[in-house]
Amino acid sequence: MKVGIFDSGLGGLTVLKELLKVSKGIEFYYLGDTARVPYGIRSEETVKRYALECTLFLKEFDIDLLVIACNTASAKAGAFLRKKFPELPIFDVIEPAVEEILNLNPQSVGVIGTPSTVGSKVYKEKLLKRKSNIKILQRATPLLVPLVEEGFLKGPITETVLRHYLSDWKDKIEVLLLGCTHYPLLKEEIKRLFPDWVIVDSAQPLAKGLKPLLQREGNNKVHLFFTDKTAFLERMLTSIGLKEKRIKIVKW
Ligand code: DGL
Repeated sequence: MKVGIFDSGLGGLTVLKELLKVSKGIEFYYLGDTARVPYGIRSEETVKRYALECTLFLKEFDIDLLVIACNTASAKAGAFLRKKFPELPIFDVIEPAVEEILNLNPQSVGVIGTPSTVGSKVYKEKLLKRKSNIKILQRATPLLVPLVEEGFLKGPITETVLRHYLSDWKDKIEVLLLGCTHYPLLKEEIKRLFPDWVIVDSAQPLAKGLKPLLQREGNNKVHLFFTDKTAFLERMLTSIGLKEKRIKIVKW
């Protein structure tokens, strides 16, 4: 079984990592659009175009299902891709995270993500539709992506930035949703700074939901494609624990 997975760049590797943990005998084709990251500040039209190109690239490998690992692309282009490719099962990171939060039954939730994801209000609207009395705070936290890409997963700079974005929510929320592919790498640090919060990321709930579909025979295989060999590529692969030698750089 072949699974295509794409992200605006390297962050989606956190999703791939979770999928690998629950899969058996699956061939994964990961495309990171490192030449055009970040998606999180771009217009909807542009994100749709990029997401379409990523999907068309992955479809060349005859994938059986597609995972949109990028929160921004899920928010801005998920419905568009499903309409465009009705024959291809498409999963994104939003629904499973919403489900996970609702299972926790909180009174208050904080959502952080890129300006684009937060601006789309996708998490807020989906949560409120299912539980209208939930208090939802949202905030774009754009400095977190470059921090993670530079390998600043903890330490004084990261702590200052996290406190800057999140301190005023300390007693206001019970659950924090990490609505961006990069943020799972900051989970430990956020947990240390705000130990009372339950932290939900979008990668683990997605993997949990897809697990039944990803059980075949044999070992998993991973093919990694990127649209540019960017400065932090190797470092991010190491941070995520995916030491993959066979990286291909694709030119469109
Ligand atoms: N992958 C993006 C997301 O999850 C973060 C990086 C970007 O802005 O492209 O929203």
